[in-house]
Amino acid sequence: MIFNTSSTIIQSVNINLFCHSSSILPLYLTEALKQLSDIAICEVDVSDLAHIPQSGGLVWDGQKLVFIWPEKAVRPIYFDFDEWVKVLQRTGYKNSHLLRAVGKKAELVIDSTTGTARDSLTLLLGGHCVQSWERDPIVYLLLIDAFYQMINESINKDLWEIKFGDVFKTNTQAAVLYYDPMFDRTGKTALARKEMMLFHQILKSNGEENESQLADWMRTHVKRLIVKRPLKGEVFPLSVTAQFKGKSVRFDLHQLG
Ligand SMILES: C[S@@+](CC[C@H](N)C(=O)[O-])C[C@H]1O[C@@H](n2cnc3c(N)ncnc32)[C@H](O)[C@@H]1O
Repeated sequence: MIFNTSSTIIQSVNINLFCHSSSILPLYLTEALKQLSDIAICEVDVSDLAHIPQSGGLVWDGQKLVFIWPEKAVRPIYFDFDEWVKVLQRTGYKNSHLLRAVGKKAELVIDSTTGTARDSLTLLLGGHCVQSWERDPIVYLLLIDAFYQMINESINKDLWEIKFGDVFKTNTQAAVLYYDPMFDRTGKTALARKEMMLFHQILKSNGEENESQLADWMRTHVKRLIVKRPLKGEVFPLSVTAQFKGKSVRFDLHQLG
């Protein structure tokens, strides 16, 4: 599968990245940091972990990348795709409303809002090629680390590309695009509740989308749009073709072309 390449511009951000002095960053993370270098100021600090600020920081502990808050009684955040794939296989991803909304024929699905990648993994298990976009640099780096650490062979890594940035700021044309702007803290999530709340804090600085502007982009770039909503949430400002309802969320299909 050949994926599109396109450039992206986002606002400048600071990332604190700490590395135990005895270990060096793996090559894949060094390469991922280069993706951020035009737009982000990365502080790589090889001193001791006491320097992690209140707002938290990324730490390479020699084995994996984790996000840590120094003074909060929560476990470090990291993504474990092997574990999540097992959970999805156990809980029957085949009946997923997301997969029903996407449809069997979709070859490449763009996941415009990757987050923990739980939904991207569902799409991959469902047999689709997936291009996953994430605009938050911290989440992006956690995704890249989890991707390279994953050994479960149910996921064909050649069919998955994780991209840094905002697809809505590019000219990408999508046959099928998935959009999940909501932060689902009540339904099934890949992270435990407390960690999920803190994870939300990392992301809230990125701001909300203006959905009427986004709808204009969707009209000219997307043929089949799937939007995740809380069960009783407002409809995305485009006409709905079909709805696939779960207990706490629904997937709205907007056929645009
Ligand atoms: C609600 S979460 C998505 C949850 C995801 N479906 C999952 O399975 O975990 C939204 C994520 O999308 C990212 N995001 C939101 N708007 C975005 C955009 N326009 N471009 C790229 N990433 C975006 C946020 O940074 C956040 O990580």
